[in-house]
Amino acid sequence: MSTGHYRNADRYTKSARMFKSACEVIPGGVNSTARATWSGWEPHPLFASHGEGAYLYDVDGNRYIDYLLGLGPMILGHRPPAVTQAVVDAITARGTVFALPTEPETALTHKLIAAVPSLEQVRLCNTGTEAVLYAVRLARAFTGRPKIIRFEGMYHGFSDGVYWSKHPPLSAAGTDRHPMAVPQGPGVPAALSEGLIILPWNDVEALKEALETHGGDIAAVLTEPVMCNTGCILPKPGYLEAMRELTQRHGVLLIFDEVITGFRLALGGAQAHYGVTPDLATFAKGVGGGFPLAVMGGRRDIMALVADGTVSIAGTYSANVIAVAAANATMDILATPGMYEKLYEVSDRLRLGLEKIFTDARIPTQVVGVGPVFQVWFSEKPIHNYRDAARHASHELFRIWWEGMLDRGVLFHPGAFENLFVSFAHTKEDVDQTLELARDVAKQIAQSR
Ligand SMILES: Cc1ncc(COP(=O)(O)O)c(C=O)c1O
Repeated sequence: MSTGHYRNADRYTKSARMFKSACEVIPGGVNSTARATWSGWEPHPLFASHGEGAYLYDVDGNRYIDYLLGLGPMILGHRPPAVTQAVVDAITARGTVFALPTEPETALTHKLIAAVPSLEQVRLCNTGTEAVLYAVRLARAFTGRPKIIRFEGMYHGFSDGVYWSKHPPLSAAGTDRHPMAVPQGPGVPAALSEGLIILPWNDVEALKEALETHGGDIAAVLTEPVMCNTGCILPKPGYLEAMRELTQRHGVLLIFDEVITGFRLALGGAQAHYGVTPDLATFAKGVGGGFPLAVMGGRRDIMALVADGTVSIAGTYSANVIAVAAANATMDILATPGMYEKLYEVSDRLRLGLEKIFTDARIPTQVVGVGPVFQVWFSEKPIHNYRDAARHASHELFRIWWEGMLDRGVLFHPGAFENLFVSFAHTKEDVDQTLELARDVAKQIAQSR
């Protein structure tokens, strides 16, 4: 629940004015739900001016240490010089779209396959939504089975087939053990629920039961390896391994949606971090260095259906010259030895630092995440799935935390079910400054309770 106004509205007057003007011609004033007032940006989102490294500047001239990172893609920080240069070179020397293959696509694909355990062959596209849509289509085609298991609280893009049960009202979502499929809203065809089984995440028994009951009808289990779309929820020890074992036993494909975790938890994604290899996987935000490039790939025998045209994967802009140039430059940087060790050092300093601040201030929180992605849950109870979050996480305290940090020059998403992202551009100094400001805000939260 938001307060409906900014306490220090004077800091954001130009943003307020621009939002009013935008609302006249753009529904809701924004071009994505995640930027809308109803997603937390109440009474209006900030309007961005520009970014540089770990910092974002709004149109009112406020500077922020940026942990929003464009909701993930700015993993190298804003305007990383090598990526910018690669894109400028590509545009000036080559062009943008040819409807013909180019050699850098193959070069990029070799880098992706070398980095990620599950990738034997890869198709490139533009967004995570497309990548998941293609993976699900392919899984149905390969197995000849109609249903997909997906988990309550996850988000796999906005295509009709999977835009279900992200954050449904619990009153309309069935029982904890057997959730009902709830569409994101009107317009998503009700008949598509036939193709879905919705389960609670982190529950081996529920998965086992579903596979034993419906196994012959299930094409794939689609999951984020870390639930990053209901705040940040880690897999219980052994859960991903159990998923792998159970899906194999029932001839069901395991799809990891690594749109957030890919190239962020490790160069090889969450699958490398946890040592569990899916059959198919999708990637987007981490790989393009801020440009729209996504990846769908996996086992060669499954991808063979794409190779021979049985399953069609199209796209005018797929593997366009700009995105491929950006991703090639990004992959070269990410593959530099020692990068991820440094990233974890800086991120852990922030996550553990925040944990200590809230503990010292006696504010019941769970600071949950892995490496450069995490969330602060204002909850006395641990959060293991969407229903825990829906029942226990305080949105009111989160708003005080968020706005207190915003006013002090630290940016992240206002939604309690979103994440904080740390980039390779953040330094220990940025973290220490963030922690100092957080100490101040923790006092404010403690007083409000
Ligand atoms: C796990 C996951 N899958 C898919 C998507 C959709 O990606 P895109 O916004 O690039 O379409 C998102 C976006 O946040 C995501 O978090």
